Amino acid sequence: MAGGTPQALEAQILQAIEAADSAVALESVRVDAFGKKGWLTQAMKALGALEGDARREMGQALNRVKETTQTAWEARRDALALAEMNTRLAIEQADVSLSPRPESIGMVHPLSRTLEELLAIFATMGFTMAEGPDIESDYYNFTALNIPPEHPARQDHDTFYMTPDSTGNRKVLRTHTSPVQIRTMENTKPPIRIIAPGRTYRSDHDATHSPMFHQCEGLVLGDGITMGHLKGCLIEFCRSFFGIADLPVRFRPSYFPFTEPSAEVDIGCRRESGTLTIGDGGDWLEILGCGMVNPKVLEYCNIDPEAHQGFAFGMGLERLAMLKYGIPDLRPFFDSDLRWMRHYGFMPYDVPSVHLGL
Ligand code: DAH
Repeated sequence: MAGGTPQALEAQILQAIEAADSAVALESVRVDAFGKKGWLTQAMKALGALEGDARREMGQALNRVKETTQTAWEARRDALALAEMNTRLAIEQADVSLSPRPESIGMVHPLSRTLEELLAIFATMGFTMAEGPDIESDYYNFTALNIPPEHPARQDHDTFYMTPDSTGNRKVLRTHTSPVQIRTMENTKPPIRIIAPGRTYRSDHDATHSPMFHQCEGLVLGDGITMGHLKGCLIEFCRSFFGIADLPVRFRPSYFPFTEPSAEVDIGCRRESGTLTIGDGGDWLEILGCGMVNPKVLEYCNIDPEAHQGFAFGMGLERLAMLKYGIPDLRPFFDSDLRWMRHYGFMPYDVPSVHLGL
């Protein structure tokens, strides 16, 4: 036994406890004093060598040492924990008088908002969404849409051509979303009711044209689909989109190679001293192209024109956004200028969605 007596043992343990200045140091004191081979344990074991009264007295004395030192050990443990907590409180103090940093919240781009609105309207009419690649083959972008090589309509598209491959085939950046019609008709059996929004590309750049812009294509194919369905669907769309229940809508005969007959859709408006008001007045504003799917296009997709008929339509999303939200210039749409975004953008929770309704 260290020092020979229970008093000396007690003094030794208490001193070690006192000297421990951290939880780790105190833990090693616990092992040294009370562990399996600790000082007190050794002393207890040595009792076996004593006899009678001497053994009883020594046993009692050691039990008292054990009680005193263990109580001291626990007190030290609590004191160290408290000290550590106080140190942390002092260090980690938060200065609540500091003024808050300004937070900037992101805005939803008017184009995203326009697309959300459009999707919500067509979703209520039972349309689903389809997609196709931005880099298209000449076949899907032109030929299968009844725009064969040398067709004059090819010139109107200001196409971006890719470098031809080893076989002389050159892909194009799709000039419209109409190729998604073809891809959908190749892969899906009628009835079909899809809209296909996406990026489109033409070599054109001014206040109302950007080399990359967005279109949304629509296609309905089934049995006995008529021009009446086309008109009903698009009149409903125009009125819902502009939020004007009696918006005048006019179908003006036009020409697209992929539809027959074809029409352009105009909405009623008033132009007055540089301002445009949608919904009344004697003027008209063109907003989309449409028509009955040309039987030649159906044949390209192996669909029997005698059995199935349909209509298609296509519109420019930037144009719709500019008209609805009074944005005069298209170019800043893609400039990532935050001042423009703050002016024309929408609060995130304000965006209509298919789930929330309009
Ligand atoms: N693809 C046409 C364009 O880029 C828009 C269009 C017109 C799409 C009539 C159609 C349609 O599906 O039927 O100008």
